[in-house]
Amino acid sequence: MIPLSLYIHLPWCVKKCPYCDFNAHPLKDNTDLEGYIKRLVEDLHSHQSILESRPIRSIFIGGGTPSLFSAQQLAPLFQAIQQYQDISKIEITIEANPGTQDCASYSGYVDLGINRISIGGQSFNPAMLTNLGRIHNGDLTHQAIIQAQNAGFKRINLDIMYGLPHQTLQEALDDLQQFIDYKLEHLSWYQLNIEANTLFAVKKPELPSDDMINDMDLAGSHLLIKNGYRQYEISAWTRNQPSFHNLNYWHFGDYLGIGCGAHSKITQTNPFKIERVIKHKHPKAYMNHLIQELKEVPKSDVILEYCIGQFRTLDPLDLDTFEKRTQLHRDHLIQALKSASEAGLLTITPSTISLTDKGFRHHNELCLSLVKQ
Ligand SMILES: C[S@@+](CC[C@H](N)C(=O)[O-])C[C@H]1O[C@@H](n2cnc3c(N)ncnc32)[C@H](O)[C@@H]1O
Ligand code: SF4
Repeated sequence: MIPLSLYIHLPWCVKKCPYCDFNAHPLKDNTDLEGYIKRLVEDLHSHQSILESRPIRSIFIGGGTPSLFSAQQLAPLFQAIQQYQDISKIEITIEANPGTQDCASYSGYVDLGINRISIGGQSFNPAMLTNLGRIHNGDLTHQAIIQAQNAGFKRINLDIMYGLPHQTLQEALDDLQQFIDYKLEHLSWYQLNIEANTLFAVKKPELPSDDMINDMDLAGSHLLIKNGYRQYEISAWTRNQPSFHNLNYWHFGDYLGIGCGAHSKITQTNPFKIERVIKHKHPKAYMNHLIQELKEVPKSDVILEYCIGQFRTLDPLDLDTFEKRTQLHRDHLIQALKSASEAGLLTITPSTISLTDKGFRHHNELCLSLVKQ
């Protein structure tokens, strides 16, 4: 059976960061957080038939800033999920912003059954955090990690960004070294992207040169490997367990998304079809109507979607799994990847397709070769 994950979107932040294009909205005095949780419970129950027929294998509470919600506020949602299954043995992650520690106690999250926390540190350097328009400083990044450890979280991810405005190579490596010193399980190490529709796109800050960013990438990867971390996806590093939830997305697993703007991908077996459900993006619209769009993923999109996710990771693509999850014959995929294979981006064997080093470094080129067909 294709694994099923649950994604829960909590869309508010204390303040919108100037580089961020996530579905995140500034919190106002009159924002009704409890009312939103009630709506999430209704949203969850609207998927009753799937939840009664298939187990959830992981849960991810993302945002926005989920740590604006206390464990007490989240409790009704957890009660609702537990009507369908025991969640004590699955990976459950919550995202936390170090600037919101007063609003929620991490140990309350552990009591709810949350066993993995992802901290949006971004940097330990106060000047970098100011350049990024963050609400927290470097001390709060340290405090968030210590608080998560004291609360009993064994599985901690830290988000760090590099290629930041005015950042030097040494500053980027200092951030990584401070992360390494905590011996945390997991790192999400993102190169800062200038996204359309953000303040940084309108007023672009001065970024390090491409050569400098390349140096950060190489020296940073070397430092992480030397300290026992292994890269398993473009931005994801672990010294122990990868994130099951994220791997499930990248490996074309199924997911239910609840909350404003959340997407679901559900495979129906009889007859076989892959459905996508999209919830209304704005919190106000979502409070009035849940579903914005329900559509079948056309066969022509399946190969592209499969490859975009799969080739973010370093795992070889297993052709039997491809056939099971898409009901397409492997020859369609091999044909679609012919030009990428000829360009030295992939190695094709009778049972797997693997990225070459060049293919991993040129993920966009690989995806473009598929789009052009
Ligand atoms: C939803 S946020 C994490 C939780 C919380 N909202 C926070 O920022 O502290 C997900 C992560 O995406 C990364 N991110 C957001 N915008 C980005 C961008 N433009 N370029 C690179 N990484 C970005 C940041 O590292 C951020 O922590
Ligand atoms: S706190 Fe996180 S989700 Fe919110 S605006 Fe900043 S990066 Fe985006």
